[in-house]
Amino acid sequence: MKILFLNGPNLNLLGRREPSVYGKLSLPEIEAKVRDRAKTLSATIDFRQSNLEGELVNWIQEAKGNFDVIVLNAAAYTHTSIALRDAIAAVAVPTIEIHLSNVHAREEFRHRSIIAPVCKGQITGFGANSYILGLEAAINVNES
Ligand code: DQA
Repeated sequence: MKILFLNGPNLNLLGRREPSVYGKLSLPEIEAKVRDRAKTLSATIDFRQSNLEGELVNWIQEAKGNFDVIVLNAAAYTHTSIALRDAIAAVAVPTIEIHLSNVHAREEFRHRSIIAPVCKGQITGFGANSYILGLEAAINVNES
């Protein structure tokens, strides 16, 4: 199984960025945890980050035929991006929305996810473990 992890804007700053909200691990440290777990599940992963909406759209489009599932932390684009939502709907690669923080327990503007209706489901609030739960959801995506 091939799983594409995509990370949106400012997630390159994890570890230094508001650690009380997002935790102390850097994105490469989270990636290492995901890679370890993926190995035990015989899954192949690709793990990418971009601050640019268009680059994320390109990667979602390119996932068609190359990956079985996308695990997406769209960061702030979760709440703003019709382009990401349309890309997910267009490629029809099952996509799992994840967040480190519990977006529903935070500011009101984070309560709305524009991408949620075109995703299989949402994992939010488990810190770095949201990535591991996202991986497990991806492995089982055809059973849900
Ligand atoms: C986030 C939550 C978003 O609201 C925020 O804009 C982020 C990170 C999370 O992982 O908790 O950048 O997606």
